[in-house]
Amino acid sequence: MKENLKKVHVKTYGCQMNVYDSEKMVDLLKPHGFESVDTPNEADVVIFNTCHIREKAEQKLYSDLGRVRPLKQEKDLLIGVAGCVAQAEGDEIIRQAPYVDMVFGPQTYHRLPELITKLYRQKEELKESTNLNKSQKRKLRSVVDTDFPVESKFDLLPQTQESRTSAFLSIQEGCDNFCTFCVVPYTRGSEYSRPVTEIVKEAKHLAEMGAKEITLLGQNVNAYHGESPTEPSKEWNLGQLIFEVGKINGIERIRYTTSHPLDMPTELYEAHRDVPALMPFLHLPVQSGSNSILKMMNRQHTAKDYLEVIEKLRKYRPDIAFSSDFIVGFPGESDQDHQDTLSLIKAVEYSQAYSFKYSQRPGTPAAIMEQQIPEEIKVVRLAELQALISEQQLKFNQTFKDKTLKVLVDKTGKKDGQLSGRSEYMQSVYFDGPEEIQGTMCDIKIEHTFTNSLKGLISQTQQTIL
Ligand code: SAH
Ligand code: SF4
Ligand code: F3S
Repeated sequence: MKENLKKVHVKTYGCQMNVYDSEKMVDLLKPHGFESVDTPNEADVVIFNTCHIREKAEQKLYSDLGRVRPLKQEKDLLIGVAGCVAQAEGDEIIRQAPYVDMVFGPQTYHRLPELITKLYRQKEELKESTNLNKSQKRKLRSVVDTDFPVESKFDLLPQTQESRTSAFLSIQEGCDNFCTFCVVPYTRGSEYSRPVTEIVKEAKHLAEMGAKEITLLGQNVNAYHGESPTEPSKEWNLGQLIFEVGKINGIERIRYTTSHPLDMPTELYEAHRDVPALMPFLHLPVQSGSNSILKMMNRQHTAKDYLEVIEKLRKYRPDIAFSSDFIVGFPGESDQDHQDTLSLIKAVEYSQAYSFKYSQRPGTPAAIMEQQIPEEIKVVRLAELQALISEQQLKFNQTFKDKTLKVLVDKTGKKDGQLSGRSEYMQSVYFDGPEEIQGTMCDIKIEHTFTNSLKGLISQTQQTIL
């Protein structure tokens, strides 16, 4: 690779795991003389770390690619497509956008420095060779690497040198559940859990770098079963792991995402009761409240099973707040099925939730099911569901009026002098305060409550300490 400092811009789509992967891509390139920049205009290498979960996410890639294309005429630019669209579409991306130089999947990005070196070498060769035809040149120009390699990328990723108040840590990847609507098992491969020792080491490093909050990540994170630190023939579950991470100095908050309602080991309930750092908030997607739809989705649980998990978690941690994902308009969803989903939402009372119109994904079983639901019906159902969730979210937020919340301050707000952070329950909280308190935990007295955020005042005692 060239000696002078080069610039890389990584744009991330999709879930937190992609955020983690993008951060690691930058970490990987730093020792090779790269620094990270915020826009493609400044960059020598642009990487789109993509998401394949819904059609919209995928379309975004092609429009973004079209936008950076002209930059290639102005300078020596490498364009890369990483992540789940790369894994799912591979060569097709090069066919549609031949100016893309590299396509690589979520399990091969540890090879990125090699890949870039190879491309720079090829570019030199191309400059020298005059007798190649167009297709030979194209072959030389682009590289596609969408293996599921035997080596684990985790063994080869460097520790980050960035300081983050709230950090992500991938502990498990891939998914063996095969929900019929979902591409993840195909794009991320089968389930893999990292050994406990490796995770604890990375968590300690993040804490030393200044992290106060760690979010343990996995596509199906509570199915975690990693090698025990004491007996290599045994495995630990997520609950056991959280007890261990909870002992690390400096880590004041632990979260984990995303969970499947089926994988709830006893130790995980106990962790919610006994590990003070484990936050009283859980994103526990259910997708639908109708048993027949849940069956068609291959979720392998009923609405009642889900409600029982919620109830049990509330027994262990009475103030726990819940969020979920919902899909409306799954094939065959009747009005009654939709009503069942609304009833489940009413029974749980969420503090927030994400909801999506069902999107037909190529290669998934639901995409070819009969009785696809017309767009107009999806739109109406989505609006109805979102109105109910917003109502619940506002109601939840209103319970905090005049109360004091612990807020981990991690951003400046939209207005001058404003700061923002998250409460224990994942609410966005805004307040006025000095910039120096970014990265600290503050007591904020809530004065105004909205659907998507809370606004408050920093407590008097903290102001005098400052
Ligand atoms: N592993 C997580 C979710 C991963 S995908 C889980 O099991 O819950 C994130 C969310 O995207 C899903 O929970 C689902 O609500 C939504 N989603 C996935 N595939 C979808 C599709 N084909 N159409 C619409 N939404 C989808
Ligand atoms: Fe997709 Fe289902 Fe796996 Fe979640 S559990 S990643 S929705 S297949
Ligand atoms: Fe999207 Fe892949 Fe995450 S499809 S949601 S980026 S696992």
